[in-house]
Amino acid sequence: MNSLADPTVSELLERLHAEADAQMPELRSTIRATREAEDGNDLTPEAWYDKLQDFYLPVNREQGRFLYQTVRAVQPERIVEFGSSFGVSAIYLAAGLRDNGAGTLVGSELIEKKAATARKNLVAAGLDDLADIRTGDARQTLKDPGGPIEILLLDGGPALYAEILQMLVPNLRPGAVVIADNVDDEDHPYPTWVRDPAHGFVSSSIRLKGGTEYSIWTGTTTQRGATP
Ligand SMILES: C[S@@+](CC[C@H](N)C(=O)[O-])C[C@H]1O[C@@H](n2cnc3c(N)ncnc32)[C@H](O)[C@@H]1O
Repeated sequence: MNSLADPTVSELLERLHAEADAQMPELRSTIRATREAEDGNDLTPEAWYDKLQDFYLPVNREQGRFLYQTVRAVQPERIVEFGSSFGVSAIYLAAGLRDNGAGTLVGSELIEKKAATARKNLVAAGLDDLADIRTGDARQTLKDPGGPIEILLLDGGPALYAEILQMLVPNLRPGAVVIADNVDDEDHPYPTWVRDPAHGFVSSSIRLKGGTEYSIWTGTTTQRGATP
């Protein structure tokens, strides 16, 4: 069974990816105009995401299939996602749960209307019974993920990745998989942080969308308390 081949899911995903692709020129001009308007007064990440609230910013098709495959391999009881946007990655993850026959996705989205659209898209995919998309800042909404985590997708503001991961370390099962998107910028501090053996992960970059950090929790009880 592969729900990605189910026309309800595949046609929906194709429509969402096509809409996201069509947004790219407008996304680039919005980013350019916002940077110019900043003029040295840097916006907060929240203000940036507010400006980008109409954009999908999704995982690409290849990343989505990789997420689905990972869910099938790991057979997680619980997946947590930081940054659900309109629900594209959530559909890939929940499709894997559906085909495994068990599991829950706990998503998070800062912007209310994006979270509502993500829920609506999960309903359209027939996968909403597997997902709990929480609205608000993930630093609050994911504090209690509801139990042990076997897969964590970091796809919200990259500046918060180490903080969110550290918050969730107490819930990670041994061998939990942590996938972080958008950290291909060589100055980004997250890969250095997560590759530091002191933090309890084995980690490397994989070739997805230019660079996705792929980490496995192998830490000790003591390392569960280490601060970023
Ligand atoms: C790159 S997009 C996520 C794309 C999504 N994973 C997908 O594939 O469709 C990042 C999202 O994270 C959200 N976000 C940013 N900071 C957040 C925070 N502190 N808490 C929750 N969501 C946040 C943004 O509003 C944005 O929709």
